[in-house]
Amino acid sequence: MAMPLRTVDAGFLAWAPDRRQAEGRALCQALEAGEILYFPASPLALSADDVAFLLRQKQASGPHHKNIAYKAAPDRVTGYAGGDGQRMRAVMRRFSQSALQLLAQLLPPYRMDPDFASFRGIEEQGRKLAERSRNDLLHVDSFPSRPTHGRRILRFFVNINPAAPRVWRTGPPFPALAEQYAVGSGLLPRALHPSLGQRLGELGHPRPAYDRFMLAFHHWLKANREFQSAAHPTWEFPPGSAWLCFTDTVSHAVLRGQFALEQTVMVRAEGLQAPELAPAAVFARLAARAV
Ligand SMILES: [Fe+2]
Repeated sequence: MAMPLRTVDAGFLAWAPDRRQAEGRALCQALEAGEILYFPASPLALSADDVAFLLRQKQASGPHHKNIAYKAAPDRVTGYAGGDGQRMRAVMRRFSQSALQLLAQLLPPYRMDPDFASFRGIEEQGRKLAERSRNDLLHVDSFPSRPTHGRRILRFFVNINPAAPRVWRTGPPFPALAEQYAVGSGLLPRALHPSLGQRLGELGHPRPAYDRFMLAFHHWLKANREFQSAAHPTWEFPPGSAWLCFTDTVSHAVLRGQFALEQTVMVRAEGLQAPELAPAAVFARLAARAV
């Protein structure tokens, strides 16, 4: 497998518009092929005060709050149990706005719908979470509460830990995983022909077949001992670095690390440079072959 980490030239913000367009297309192609774009030094200008504030925070623990989350549209923070909600909201708003602006500058071809931003203030190593919520098991992302309707999940991360790296493990990209497991696992046929019970369970959040498959595949990968225990490369993201990837394509696990900021966007199909590599297109091809 090719090295999935590609370092981005930190000078990209100063490039002329036509160069940024051309390089931006190349970066989109790399992302869609399953590479991780990497900045040794985060290009976001976070203030030292905001970072210091985040490093002091505790967060609510419990099954409903994996992270402190921020959503721009209602301008609201959830999962925060500390005493300064106003400040937390302002810090997260500043991070989210600058991350969204950076993504728009870096990837001009994309049409992106902002999703949640999060602050991950809990040490990932040894976290006690239900299997489906565990971050340290390899998976491709799918959100239980919100179907993507064929859009892609793009996530941008910053390690704000002043001393320790954030350590990831990555496996094969989605097209290879789907080719290997989608049909044999029984998940693809079941997503195409849901049982009555499944359909009733989805009344509140009707899920298209693609989203149904992606969520089941997420759970199945995490529960697959053979896949989890195979040899997979690990990557260290040092303090102050930033990176982004399509987490519905790059299979990933977080082995250790504490204090990361993250912004999620949903990327619409129309700006994709290699639409045939999108998980929804891969799913559609496999489904057509299966019937
Ligand atoms: Fe994930």
